[in-house]
Amino acid sequence: MILATLLLLLLADEPPKPDAARGKELFRSCSGCHNTENDDRKMGPSLHSLFGKVTLRNGKRADKENVRAIVLDGYNGMPSFQYSFRPAEMDDLLAYLETLRAPVTVKAEGTGETLFRAHCSRCHDPAIRSSAGPDLRGKFKPEWVQSVEEGHGGAPPLTAPPLKEWLDETSRKALFDYLKGY
Ligand code: HEC
Ligand code: HEC
Repeated sequence: MILATLLLLLLADEPPKPDAARGKELFRSCSGCHNTENDDRKMGPSLHSLFGKVTLRNGKRADKENVRAIVLDGYNGMPSFQYSFRPAEMDDLLAYLETLRAPVTVKAEGTGETLFRAHCSRCHDPAIRSSAGPDLRGKFKPEWVQSVEEGHGGAPPLTAPPLKEWLDETSRKALFDYLKGY
């Protein structure tokens, strides 16, 4: 009997499920400093790709707990929100933030060659014994562009994700020019 009562109390106390729509409303406290529509910076960095990234600016993994810590503690010019939200509201806010997963497009620095080394050579360098794909330079075919931009390769771990999701257009052009032998 006592156990049953305890159980009921526990059930009644179960927190409501995090609600991303409610979290989006709470995000009004943040949207003065953070864009979520595109990659443009306001006073703070855009959060458009927040959970699409591997690491946060503080070097930690882009996961729920590390994002929560930034919001609670503040970070590098961003105020702490420790006293702004009740715990259930924090969960709603995080449920919303987790929907921000736009693919990251890197504005890459460097020439076609450095881009090739950074993004392709681990599978395409003929000097690496385990290298999977064919040697490419100087054998350019126009149909390569589409296949590489849309994703190509083999079964994991030899799957190369769509290039247009990691590099901006200028960098992609530099990379293909390098393959053409320029
Ligand atoms: C007064 C402006 C301001 C407000 C309001 C603000 N932030 Fe920030 N936020 C910043 C600044 C500045 C940074 C860090 C800048 C840097 O290091 O480049 C930051 C960083 C972050 C980061 C780290 C991003 C990354 O890529 O590592 C997250 C996550 C974040 N803010 C979430 C929020 C959330 C959620 C709210 C609302 C509860 C909020 N911020 C409100 C200014 C603000
Ligand atoms: C994770 C491994 C991996 C990465 C990274 C990778 N590739 Fe590939 N690539 C392959 C494999 C495996 C093949 C052979 C199978 C195929 O053609 O789909 C291939 C084939 C190709 C082909 C077709 C060659 C032909 O003769 O038809 C091109 C072009 C190509 N890759 C370009 C690139 C470029 C440019 C990059 C860097 C942006 C890149 N790859 C990154 C694994 C990879």
